[in-house]
Amino acid sequence: MREKVLRLLEASEDYISGEVISKELSISRQSVSKHISKLNDMGYDIESKHKKGYKYIKNHTLYNKYEIEKEVDGFDIIFLDSVDSTNDYAKKIAKDRTVIIANTQTKGRGRLGRTWYSEKDKGVYMSIILKPDIMVEEAPKLTLLSAAAMLITLRKLTDLDIKIKWPNDLVLKHKKLAGILTEMSLELGQINYIVVGIGVNVGNYLFPDEIKEKGIYLQKYHDVSRKDIVIEFLKEFDHLYQKFLKGDFKKVIEISKEYSVILNKDIKIISKEERIVRAVDIDEKGHLIIVNEQGERENIFYGEVSIRGLYDYVD
Ligand code: BTN
Repeated sequence: MREKVLRLLEASEDYISGEVISKELSISRQSVSKHISKLNDMGYDIESKHKKGYKYIKNHTLYNKYEIEKEVDGFDIIFLDSVDSTNDYAKKIAKDRTVIIANTQTKGRGRLGRTWYSEKDKGVYMSIILKPDIMVEEAPKLTLLSAAAMLITLRKLTDLDIKIKWPNDLVLKHKKLAGILTEMSLELGQINYIVVGIGVNVGNYLFPDEIKEKGIYLQKYHDVSRKDIVIEFLKEFDHLYQKFLKGDFKKVIEISKEYSVILNKDIKIISKEERIVRAVDIDEKGHLIIVNEQGERENIFYGEVSIRGLYDYVD
């Protein structure tokens, strides 16, 4: 109901009286006033004037469930102020096409057991639950797909030269801007659900010492809202995801290659041991092709390695 009150206010250029709202929605005047006060608490700026009623002063950067649902079709949105990890919350829900978004995470997780720094109100911390009818081997493609969708989103919304560090990081000026953590639950060898977790550094971050030199945030260079990022991303993601479900992964590969920060460079791959190799291609499955120390081509699968540039986070 609160959303309906908001929609009426939004649709009205001028003041709209409590009486009109109450008649239109068949609710009491008292409940109209309760909804308005709750909306004000949520950050909506609703002016109330004696004898005239209410007027909504538009604000384009509000970041909440309603603002996202208004623009995005086909996903259920759960918006939380604080959560341990949106990925962990998502696993408990395990409902197809549900998106968990939080203002902060108290136990945000990165790859390889790392912590994902989740400063309050500064970043996008979001997890998408999916239950695709695909083979297990296909699932890691969703990491690359999400990275491609976020890259296109951020390039559309900013003028920044953002790149993909295969397969799950976005980088800007050689520093980490966003990361993706894809997790999967299997049942009898079949996919039960997949959770794609995405973190993007947006606002003015006060990074802790250990990541100060490696991390970067968007607003240092371009004013962009978390709301626009999430809305645009979910549209881009769904577009690529629907193609992927039909077996078409071409666009993702194209984006991954065009904006790759590692292709045609010497990179350090870290698995059991460290090796310096040359990244030469990304194949149609999304695997990284490298040329090793012996001059032989090798196929690197997702999640198998950690990649660094030779002299920096990525060079
Ligand atoms: C990485 O680069 O290591 C992956 C980082 C993934 C962070 C996101 S933030 C939202 C979601 N919830 C988590 O706990 N992690 C992911």
